[in-house]
Amino acid sequence: MKFYDRKQELAVLRRIREESRKTARFTVLTGRRRVGKTELIKQAYGADGFLYFFVARRKEAELCDLFAVRD
Ligand SMILES: Nc1ncnc2c1ncn2[C@@H]1O[C@H](COP(=O)(O)OP(=O)(O)O)[C@@H](O)[C@H]1O
Ligand SMILES: [Mg+2]
Repeated sequence: MKFYDRKQELAVLRRIREESRKTARFTVLTGRRRVGKTELIKQAYGADGFLYFFVARRKEAELCDLFAVRD
């Protein structure tokens, strides 16, 4: 898949990751469905390996079970 544009957004996310090595950072990425939020995160951080956990509308105990499962 060819990933288009988003140069500025990638630069911002990568800067935040660098800053997070010194101080905790919490980033909120919002937007309508299918505008490319998930893909942007994968492009920004995917090469280094990262945890992707989708928090669905489920009970807290179920989410904890899902989070704990290792394949
Ligand atoms: N910059 C981009 N260039 C090409 N395809 C993209 C880009 N951003 C997103 N896509 C594609 O568009 C679709 C929707 O993106 P996705 O990240 O799932 O959106 P969201 O998480 O905002 O709902 C996916 O198939 C994704 O691969
Ligand atoms: Mg998404």
